Amino acid sequence: MRVAIIGTGYVGLTTGACLAFVGHSVSCLDTDECKIKALLAGKIPIYEPKLEELLDEARHNLQFTTSYAEAIPGAEVVFIAVGTPPTPSGAPNLEFLSQAARGIGQHMNGDFTVVVNKSTVPIGSGNWVGSLIREACEQRQDGSAPEFAVASNPEFLREGTALHDSLYPDRIVIGADEPRALEVLYSLYRPILDQTFNPPTYLERPEDVGAVPLLSTDLASAELIKYAANAFLALKISFINEIGLLAERVGANISEVGRGIGLDSRIGPRFLSAGIGWGGSCFGKDTSALIATAGEYGLNLPIVEAARKINCRQRDRVVEKLLYELKILKGRMIGLLGLAFKPNTDDLREAPAIEIAQKLIDRGVRVKAHDPIALEKFRREHGTMGVQLSENVCEVAEGCDALVLVTEWNEYRDLDWEALAKKMRNPVILDGRHALDRDKLTRAGLRYVSIS
Ligand SMILES: NC(=O)c1ccc[n+]([C@@H]2O[C@H](COP(=O)([O-])OP(=O)(O)OC[C@H]3O[C@@H](n4cnc5c(N)ncnc54)[C@H](O)[C@@H]3O)[C@@H](O)[C@H]2O)c1
Repeated sequence: MRVAIIGTGYVGLTTGACLAFVGHSVSCLDTDECKIKALLAGKIPIYEPKLEELLDEARHNLQFTTSYAEAIPGAEVVFIAVGTPPTPSGAPNLEFLSQAARGIGQHMNGDFTVVVNKSTVPIGSGNWVGSLIREACEQRQDGSAPEFAVASNPEFLREGTALHDSLYPDRIVIGADEPRALEVLYSLYRPILDQTFNPPTYLERPEDVGAVPLLSTDLASAELIKYAANAFLALKISFINEIGLLAERVGANISEVGRGIGLDSRIGPRFLSAGIGWGGSCFGKDTSALIATAGEYGLNLPIVEAARKINCRQRDRVVEKLLYELKILKGRMIGLLGLAFKPNTDDLREAPAIEIAQKLIDRGVRVKAHDPIALEKFRREHGTMGVQLSENVCEVAEGCDALVLVTEWNEYRDLDWEALAKKMRNPVILDGRHALDRDKLTRAGLRYVSIS
């Protein structure tokens, strides 16, 4: 099928690569000329494991452009995957979404086009996008009124495992009020739903993956599923962090507590690791958008609000722990291990490291930082922010009064901790993710502290 994807960020580019890989002809459109130039030159503007390989393999089915007039005409399915960043009120900024909708209305020309909201958008956006497209169609000089329907297809991929999540998803949710739209999207996703494609050698199909469940709903339900899913994951993390605070007081081990409750199949083991809390472009933005939507209907969402508050508190706990260990923070040197909001991505949006670095700097601490992938992006987006960046963990440890593990990159687990301890002025390690081996680090001469 002919597909256009508007927005070539983490979601749009991944979706484009996967749909092209399973055989569709995909046109990827972005208004960011630098991104499109890079993609045309075979460079990937984001870090996502194996994306480069998949794009290479699917290149014959892919086009990249900055022009709506090139990408939209003839497309049977148009995905909108533009950013929906938060505004100060908590509601998402829908400016990019509305630009995309107008661009579609100006240029679509097929017999029947399905326009798909893949961006995370507030409930009712399906209707709103439909009205913007209709308005743009009415203003066309050629007088044509092409037929279309709007569907919602929320995205559940996780950065860092985005390709795996797109090729072998837990489920595909499609919200459409018009049955024809559902049929078109069913055909589009058929190779993934039925798992009939030959998996790439570097992304093998897990043995337990069979047919992928398709959940078809009305538009509003699909839109709400996305927000409810993210809010639930966010509150699962905040729940274990709240219990962690109590565990610390009563002398319980929060990792054991997490394991103990996670083995209950009704609860499940994931998202039950205590630490410095969530970051990234989605949980914060989507929980605040959900609260804003509820507000429009005169409702409060106290559980979601509490999850957000607890998450903010976890950042303060980093400072409190360091204060407790070092007594005086002014004039200290502290090294952060990890800047990206989670491992295997270069995404720094709402990264805990940035907030923690700022809190420490405000208290007169000199901050150093390392990240295996995100240093360059950090320099581009934040200057240095007063943080001394280094590509070498040893350099970061040199003269430090404490190291803080902020992002649990795999390579941090097997560092030469003995050598690092010797370089530090004060060998304290604050494990913000419960990712390190306490006994090993203690043997290496470090004082191990965790955030429970
Ligand atoms: N990143 C994730 O892990 C993730 C997961 C699920 C859902 N989502 C949702 O998907 C959406 C996209 O997220 P992302 O992380 O890919 O964002 P992103 O910022 O990485 O990418 C968005 C892209 O859209 C482009 N764009 C903006 N306006 C445009 C326009 N009018 N026409 C064409 N291109 C335009 C931008 O230049 C950018 O490249 C958001 O709503 C987000 O909440 C993201």
